[in-house]
Amino acid sequence: MKILITGGAGFVGARLARTLLARGHLLGQDITRLVIADQVAAPADLLADGRVEARVGPLLSHCAALADEPVDGVFHLASAVSGECEADFDLGLRSNLDSTRALLDALRARTLAGGMPTRLVFASSVAVFGPDPVVPLPALVGDTTLPAPQTSYGMHKLVCEHLIADWTRKGFIDGRAARLMTVTVRPGRPNGAASSFFSGILREPLAGEEAICPVDASVSHPVSSPQRTVEGLIAVYEASREAFGGRLALNLPALNVTVQQMLDALVAVAGPQVRARVRFVRDERIAGIVANWPAGATAERAARLGLLPENNFEDIVRQYIRDCAGHPTALKGTT
Ligand SMILES: NC(=O)c1ccc[n+]([C@@H]2O[C@H](COP(=O)([O-])OP(=O)(O)OC[C@H]3O[C@@H](n4cnc5c(N)ncnc54)[C@H](O)[C@@H]3O)[C@@H](O)[C@H]2O)c1
Repeated sequence: MKILITGGAGFVGARLARTLLARGHLLGQDITRLVIADQVAAPADLLADGRVEARVGPLLSHCAALADEPVDGVFHLASAVSGECEADFDLGLRSNLDSTRALLDALRARTLAGGMPTRLVFASSVAVFGPDPVVPLPALVGDTTLPAPQTSYGMHKLVCEHLIADWTRKGFIDGRAARLMTVTVRPGRPNGAASSFFSGILREPLAGEEAICPVDASVSHPVSSPQRTVEGLIAVYEASREAFGGRLALNLPALNVTVQQMLDALVAVAGPQVRARVRFVRDERIAGIVANWPAGATAERAARLGLLPENNFEDIVRQYIRDCAGHPTALKGTT
């Protein structure tokens, strides 16, 4: 079978690609081709695999060709991140909404020409949730919490969730949207996301560098490891429609942690001298953004698919250290 990963050169996409190549199959069928579509080149270890085909360029430029070149399944991860979308409104619309619409239309054209509806998993985000004067944010956001995005990025994700649900209702695709929690520890350099520090306060001290934490230690947030996130995307792909349940997006599992608990885990795994490299310097801009984010999440539908969060944050820190030791070059992100 032939699988397409949009955004496959990115942090989660490249890890998903490696996991699928190592696994070799989806739904019991061998993966013979893996197409990575991204505006930047995929990491060298992926390009070295004979099953991988790379399409480099904006997703919009690849979509028309997809109607003529069938793929059996799609993981749609290409996306401009939150900071980019706030800084450049048009870029966000183009990368996140226009590209998704074009991708869905290409898949619809294939179905209307007599093909089977293509299975598609969309990487949505916990950023669809936020406080609104008439919809206060609950302590924990769940599968049925009413989304009220507070950023353009969150709005794009929510609109795409509903496009995918409607294309699915019409039988054009077999779509599923899964809301990712903040994935940590992200390798590479800090990126434009306001959530970047959730990785920076671990990654930088572990690399012997100083890190600044811009929010209070009491701030709580739903996170997940890269490994659990990728496992979640694959499980959502492989779930039957009945097991997925409905057409609306589900939350992937979250470990709800405070910054203090993250730093305590750093002490437990790496020692107090590593923790000492983190300093608190409050940044009102970031603290203000973070104040509008959910403090935690639940994921009942994902649990019914057998997906659970990590037991504790120490496991996430250990996973990062293990990954760095095992694949120092493969871990380079696109940040
Ligand atoms: N990492 C997280 O914490 C997190 C949390 C919630 C949701 N998500 C979502 O998961 C997905 C993967 O996240 P990630 O952390 O790997 O992001 P990332 O930025 O590392 O990767 C995204 C990839 O998409 C590519 N891309 C962006 N716009 C494109 C376009 N118009 N055409 C082609 N390629 C384009 C980028 O080049 C990049 O390689 C994204 O959709 C993101 O919104 C991530």
